[in-house]
Amino acid sequence: MIKKSDTMTIKQIYGLAVEMGIKADFRGKKEIQKFLERTKEKFEKLNDEQKQEFDQERLMNPYSDTRILNDLPNKKIKRILTGIDMESAEMLLAKQIGDVDLILAHHPEGKSLASLDDVMHLQADILYQYGVPINIAEGVLKERISEVSRGISAINHNRAVDAARILGLGFMNVHTPADNLAAKFLDKKIKKDKPEYVGEIIKSLKEIPEHREAMKIGAGPCLFTGSGDNRTGKIALTEITGGTSGSAKMYEKMAQAGIGTIVGMHMSEQHKKEAEKHNINVVIAGHISSDSLGMNLFLDELEKKGIEIIPCSGLIRVKRFKKTRN
Ligand SMILES: [Fe+2]
Repeated sequence: MIKKSDTMTIKQIYGLAVEMGIKADFRGKKEIQKFLERTKEKFEKLNDEQKQEFDQERLMNPYSDTRILNDLPNKKIKRILTGIDMESAEMLLAKQIGDVDLILAHHPEGKSLASLDDVMHLQADILYQYGVPINIAEGVLKERISEVSRGISAINHNRAVDAARILGLGFMNVHTPADNLAAKFLDKKIKKDKPEYVGEIIKSLKEIPEHREAMKIGAGPCLFTGSGDNRTGKIALTEITGGTSGSAKMYEKMAQAGIGTIVGMHMSEQHKKEAEKHNINVVIAGHISSDSLGMNLFLDELEKKGIEIIPCSGLIRVKRFKKTRN
């Protein structure tokens, strides 16, 4: 039963995103707890000046790319404009529509964009779970993480945050928690469908409504390397969550760990060439449709509470619950 009075504050929406992200995280709740405890230990050892600089959200939120960017404390959120990339243009759209309380982006902005690299450590744990020794996974990723950190340092991070502040709109983004939800969903589906050939993975992905919808605009699941007639071997969902693309040097290590096929959201040409060199099949599920899948699983929970969701900026909205009226 939906009660319109059951709406949430931005802080509660943010808390729910973190909670759902942890629940769906490939590392498991215990590992994340350990990670948060280690962060707390490190924080406590800092001097006063360093403590001032420390982002204390990190003590409860393991996802550096998910933050409240402009809070409206105590405001009950009734209407959200949400999309994959939410910039000034979308905020003006919100004003045009009227009565929008919160702008909810998937991709990071502001401080969540500035520390996107920090969440990439999750990728090492995922690779470890698929059989890559943790020292190798961490070693290869280290270089790439610092490369990403330098790459994002030049960006005008707060542009959209400033627009939200000026327009008086709440603003937050949910990145890795949503990607975790998508990864978990795909993992379950692939384990249930048990594809034997690469072509069967694509068939399985095309059954997901977000991907089916994306096919209509030419952005559906496709094969980047290998062939539909290849046997899948061990299937790894190593490129759905974990911030952004990992290291291209990883494919050699993945092949050695017995991974036969990668299912990812997107892949650069350099990464594709490396995967191909090491005989790894690469199935690309589709970027925006995979982002939409993860966001939808989260948005369903908000809509169940009676919050109105207006999708835009590429978000393919699919509901997975039956709406009951009160
Ligand atoms: Fe994305």
